[in-house]
Amino acid sequence: SAATTFTAHAQDFPRKTITMIVPFAAGGPTDRTARDLAEALRGPLGATVVVENSSGAGSSVGSAKVARAAPDGYTLLLNHISMSTMPALLRNLPFSVTDDFEYLGLVNDIPMTLISRPTLEANDYAQLSEWIGKAQGKVNIGNAGVGSASHLCGLLYQSATKTEMVSVPYKGTAPAISDLIGGQIDLLCDQSINTLPQIQGKKVKGFAVTTAKRLDAPALKDLPTLQELGLKDFEITIWHGLYAPKGTPPAVTKKLNEALKTALKDPAFIKKTEDLGARLISDARVEPAEHKKFVQSEIAKWTPVIKAAGVYAD
Ligand code: MLT
Repeated sequence: SAATTFTAHAQDFPRKTITMIVPFAAGGPTDRTARDLAEALRGPLGATVVVENSSGAGSSVGSAKVARAAPDGYTLLLNHISMSTMPALLRNLPFSVTDDFEYLGLVNDIPMTLISRPTLEANDYAQLSEWIGKAQGKVNIGNAGVGSASHLCGLLYQSATKTEMVSVPYKGTAPAISDLIGGQIDLLCDQSINTLPQIQGKKVKGFAVTTAKRLDAPALKDLPTLQELGLKDFEITIWHGLYAPKGTPPAVTKKLNEALKTALKDPAFIKKTEDLGARLISDARVEPAEHKKFVQSEIAKWTPVIKAAGVYAD
């Protein structure tokens, strides 16, 4: 019968190339994570994993493709924190982030940094706060588009400091950072993958990190955490996770999860992760149940922040 055939195929999965959909543009942090992971999965899976970029509407375009794909393990989704913000950001989300996917495990965790244009008249966070206070309402904070990592960090920062800034959206992080370097905007809070080289090269000023603890990377280790600076509970990191369409056979999801665990221990993957200023995920968080529980806690954290800001990606 068809069911028997399907089960038989699940046992010898994978027998062909797997497509990993990235719901963001090529060259960004999510794409880099996906490409490094695809490479590391090749050995444990014994199959090639190709990355396909399908961006748009706060990552919902690419995510929808995977929700609708055949549940056979050959089409996967690599998405970031937007998995937990899409339910609040999109009024017409055509799928459920919790019900239409099999959760395969978390992949990495990317810290963020609060940075400014190089000409801003502040050299530490206290001076920056004072400057923001004086410029109240006129501070331009850039972001890589509605629902992007930088947009979320900017919203959380304004909510935590009870300030209102002018959000300046760009199509991706590259143009946002280049306008910050050029002085067209004042502030940006973005993933360390993007900001570390700019801080290191003194192209921008770095003020703080968004993690609960300080970071190890030499260029970032002197930056205080926003919690240290008085923003109680302030924390945002851009975590990535791997997903398959709902209904993928357990034999297949088990194999994918095991391959993911092995891939995350691959020395080349570890080195690439550390080079990006990103953090590795503990084994416990590569468990599907933990991954899903974590996404649900992130949905609870972000929904009120996004609703209060009244922003939509559709
Ligand atoms: C990307 O890869 O484009 C980013 O992770 C998107 C973002 O800034 O949220």
